[in-house]
Amino acid sequence: MTAITRANQCKVESVMETNSPKRKLRSSSVQRQQSPVSTPVNWKSPRRCLNSSPKSPPEVNTEHVKTAKEALHISTAPTTIMCREDEQNKIFNFCKASVEQEKAGSLYVCGCPGTGKSLSMEKVKDQLAAWAAQSGLQLPDILSINCTSLANTSDIFTKIMGETQPKKKRNGSLTPLQHLRRLYSQKAESSCMKMKLIIADELDYLITKDKAVLHDLFMLTTFPFSRCILIGIANAIDLADRFLPRLQALNCKPQVVTYRAYSKEQILKILQQRLTGLPFVVFHSQALELCARKVAAVSGDMRKALCVCRNAIELLEAEIKASSKEQNHDDACDTPAPPELVKRSESQIVRLDHMAVALSKTFKSPAVETIQSLPQHQQIILCSVVKLVRGGKKDTTIGELNKSYMDICKSTLIPPVGSLELSNMFTVLNDQGLLKLGQSRDNKMRRVLLKVDEADVTFALQGIRFFRNCLAVN
Ligand SMILES: Nc1ncnc2c1ncn2[C@@H]1O[C@H](COP(=O)(O)OP(=O)(O)O)[C@@H](O)[C@H]1O
Ligand SMILES: [Mg+2]
Repeated sequence: MTAITRANQCKVESVMETNSPKRKLRSSSVQRQQSPVSTPVNWKSPRRCLNSSPKSPPEVNTEHVKTAKEALHISTAPTTIMCREDEQNKIFNFCKASVEQEKAGSLYVCGCPGTGKSLSMEKVKDQLAAWAAQSGLQLPDILSINCTSLANTSDIFTKIMGETQPKKKRNGSLTPLQHLRRLYSQKAESSCMKMKLIIADELDYLITKDKAVLHDLFMLTTFPFSRCILIGIANAIDLADRFLPRLQALNCKPQVVTYRAYSKEQILKILQQRLTGLPFVVFHSQALELCARKVAAVSGDMRKALCVCRNAIELLEAEIKASSKEQNHDDACDTPAPPELVKRSESQIVRLDHMAVALSKTFKSPAVETIQSLPQHQQIILCSVVKLVRGGKKDTTIGELNKSYMDICKSTLIPPVGSLELSNMFTVLNDQGLLKLGQSRDNKMRRVLLKVDEADVTFALQGIRFFRNCLAVN
């Protein structure tokens, strides 16, 4: 995590810069406490130089918002793809070997959506072009097909055929598939042809009942004079096993490269990489962590993580606009702004609560809804468990939990319930499947296991300020 040092904190601006010097000073002290994520550089916005009265409302710096959202847009490709080095190397080496040996063959790339398959394929193409130029080898013709764009599944052969041989040379009575088969079966016809690299993305769309198209497609690489190097990219992990038994029999089963779902650490790393170049602070580090944790727990889909982060920025943007309007109104009425409003406009970076709302718009799990509808003391218990098991600890004990519950009640001035009632609440949470209580003769030593995702609890309780403070990582 990029921590911001005191020395360079003064160079860092929040994503929504205010042009009031007083506010900016306060804002940076808030940022310092909260260790937001950013790489500070010496950068000055022209807006900072503008003179304005200290009373003027915070101004949304639309340029910052735009830049931050662009950096997090899914269509903004990173210069290097982090966390996919192995997979990318495997694909590149497969292509390189096929080109060097002029050998037909197939590769099956699979993994859940948003795991970087298409993105790394684009990089492999660039890598191949650079390698071919450097080694003086002829690059194969590259045909990239997104299978979702095909009206009929068998149109894929028309596409391949169209690129392979001009129409006028074709035998009219043969289908494109038949033509390709004939072409790759005869030495004389294929020997003068360049190798062809076919990248078929979103291959799942070609799955028909009998899986014939997929089968025929991969079979093209097995003909004796085939010039086809095929890379099929799909979400389905077991497709290769299901649709290619015959290829296996021919010993031509495609190599498989699997993209695993991104872990919390990987999502965090990728988000931070995207934000590294920005000369202002966008996210509170805990907000970014919550996003990574939740997305990793649900799907590990980077597309979702980026989308949630952008939504969180939009929430901040809307909040600042609303608070600025209210402040204008208050100024007009000459009444001082309520402390809550002033505080909000000071820390103009995406906080945990913005992120929690953005996440809830994307994923609302039954567990989250259950937690949100629990009575307050049961929520405090869950909050205590999360605090106790955080950092990789598997479980806690009733004794520890009692103590943590009392501490929270004390710090938030909420009168605690009696020990019998507390014990009943543990049982209720156990019955609801949110906790699991172990057995022990000594009640205090009974093990307590959190049965829902830690992120779900944090996420469900973020909307309530005292839970937010309570769950904040110190
Ligand atoms: N390792 C990564 N580094 C940076 N951005 C990534 C990474 N992996 C995925 N992304 C982002 O997520 C988006 C979805 O990735 P993509 O390759 O299209 O997923 P898939 O093809 O596996 O469904 C990409 O457009 C990119 O913006
Ligand atoms: Mg894709």
